[in-house]
Amino acid sequence: MSTQLHADPDARAFVARHHRMLIGGDWVDAASGKTFDTIDPATGEVLASIPAGDSEDIDRAVKTARAAFENPVWADMHPATRGKLLHKLGDLILEHADELATLDTLDNGKPFAVARAADVPLAADLFHYMAGWATKLNGSTISLSVPYMPDAQFHAYTLREPIGVVGQIIPWNFPLLMAAWKLGPALTTGCTVVLKPAEQTPLSALRLGELILEAGFPEGVVNIVTGLGEEAGAPLAAHPDVDKIAFTGSTEVGKMIVRAAADNLKKVSLELGGKSPNLLFDDADMSQAIPGVANAVFFNQGQVCCAGSRLYVQNSVYDDVLQGMSDVAKGVKVGNGLDPATDMGPLTSQEQFDRVTGYLNIGQSEGARTITGGGRVGDKGYFVEPTILADTDHSMKVVKEEIFGPVIAVAPFKDVDELTRKANDSIYGLASGVWTKDLSKAHRAAKAIKAGTVWVNCFNVFDAALPFGGYKQSGWGREMGAEVLENYLQTKAVTTQI
Ligand code: NAI
Ligand code: MG
Repeated sequence: MSTQLHADPDARAFVARHHRMLIGGDWVDAASGKTFDTIDPATGEVLASIPAGDSEDIDRAVKTARAAFENPVWADMHPATRGKLLHKLGDLILEHADELATLDTLDNGKPFAVARAADVPLAADLFHYMAGWATKLNGSTISLSVPYMPDAQFHAYTLREPIGVVGQIIPWNFPLLMAAWKLGPALTTGCTVVLKPAEQTPLSALRLGELILEAGFPEGVVNIVTGLGEEAGAPLAAHPDVDKIAFTGSTEVGKMIVRAAADNLKKVSLELGGKSPNLLFDDADMSQAIPGVANAVFFNQGQVCCAGSRLYVQNSVYDDVLQGMSDVAKGVKVGNGLDPATDMGPLTSQEQFDRVTGYLNIGQSEGARTITGGGRVGDKGYFVEPTILADTDHSMKVVKEEIFGPVIAVAPFKDVDELTRKANDSIYGLASGVWTKDLSKAHRAAKAIKAGTVWVNCFNVFDAALPFGGYKQSGWGREMGAEVLENYLQTKAVTTQI
C-alpha cells in the first residue's frame, strides 16, 4: 500500500541509510553491534535497522557530555552565541520540514499533513522561543539584614547556572516535537545532553542530530543513544554522573525513573499520563464544542498524554452531543498517513494496537454503550476506529485508566458540584477542557479543576510560551514557557561583605 503513496525523497533516502547514533561528533554503531528494527505502523513492515545502545554506549555518551559541559567552548560561550545556535537549529528544522514530517509519518503513523502543520513548526518554534531566553537567564541582587552582624554591609546576588549533564528519555507519540521540548531548554541554559528517543520512532531524532551539528553546536553537547527502554533508558536514569533526568512517557516507567534517580539524587522532571476531562455545558456553542470534544480525543490517533478522553455532558444536551460526535467520528477517514485524504493514521505499534483494542473489549464487558467504532480497520497495519463509549461511570476501567487511543468515555452530568467531583476523581491531572459561553462559569470551572492545563472553548492548543505539565500523578515540573528553565538551572547565592 505505502509504495504507491508519495513520500518526501529526502526522507526515503534517509530511511534507507545505515543508521548510527551520535556520540560526540561521531556517528557510531552500538558497542555491542546489536540493532533493533523500527516498523512502519501503516503496513507492519520493517522500515530500518537502528543501533541498540546499552549501558556501555550510555556510559560513553555520558562521559562525552561531561567533557563537553566542562569544555570552555560550550561553558564559556556567550549567551547570545548560544541563542544564535538555537535559532539556526529552528531555521534548519523549517528548511527540512517536509523531510522531518515524513520521517515522523513513516515511523509513528500520524498523517503527514498533521506532522507538517503541527509537529514540525511547533518544534522549530520551541527552538526559536528558547533562543531568546539564552540572554535572559539572570539572577538578582538581594538586600541583606543579617541579625547577628548588625553593622556589616553586604553585596549579595544570585547566579543561575546550568545543572550539568542531562539525560532525556522521550516517547513515540510526537517524536520530533518531544525531542525539541526536551533539548530546547537544556541547550538554552548551557547543559549538555544524552537523549534517548523511543525505540518505536528513532528516525527524526537521528536526523535532528545531524541538524544540530550543522547548526554549529560543539561536539558532545548533544549525544543521541538509540535503544530499548530497559537496555538504554534504565542505565541513563541510573547513571551516577548524570545530574538531571527528564522523562516523558508512562506513569509506570516514570516511577521507575524516580527510583533509579535516587542513588545519586539526580534532579527529576516527569511528564506522564493523563485522563483529561472535557466539561460540556448546555450553553456552549455546539457547532464549535461538538467537533472540539471529538477532536480532543481523536487528534494524533488519541496517542496524546493530554487527550480529552473523558467527556461530561450536561444531561439536557446529552443525546444531541452523542449524535453530533458520532457524525464527526464517522466522517474521520482512517488510513495511511502518507495519503493526503487521511485524517487519522494507525496506532504506532503492535503493542499499542493490542492495548487499545484490549480496552475496547473491556469497555464492552463493563457495560459501556458503543455509539460508534469499537473495532479494527482493515487487516494489516495498526488501524483502529474512532470510538465513542457512552453511559460510562467511574467504576469502569475505561474511565479510570489511560487508553492512549481514539477512544472517548462519555457520561451525562446534572449539576456543577457533581461535575467537579467527577472531573477531579482521577489519579491524573494533566489537562482539561471547558465548553460554555458563560465566562463566569468557565473561570469558576478553570479554578476548580485540578490539572496543569485548562482549555476553554478549545483543546490541544500548544505554544512554546505556555507552560505544560501535570498535577498529581501526571508529573513533576513543567515543559515549555519560562517555567521549564527551572528544570535545568540551579541557583547560586554569592555574598560579599563590603
Ligand atoms: P514507556 O513509558 O515504556 O516509554 C517511554 C520512553 O521510556 C521510551 O523511550 C522507552 O524506551 C523508555 N523506557 C521504557 N522503559 C524504561 C525504563 N525501565 N527505564 C528508562 N526508560 C524506559 O511507554 P510505552 O510502553 O511506550 O507506552 C505505554 C503507555 O504509556 C501508553 O499506552 C501510554 O498510556 C503511556 N505513554 C504516555 C506518554 C506521554 O506522552 N505522557 C507517551 C508514551 C506513552
Ligand atoms: Mg513501556
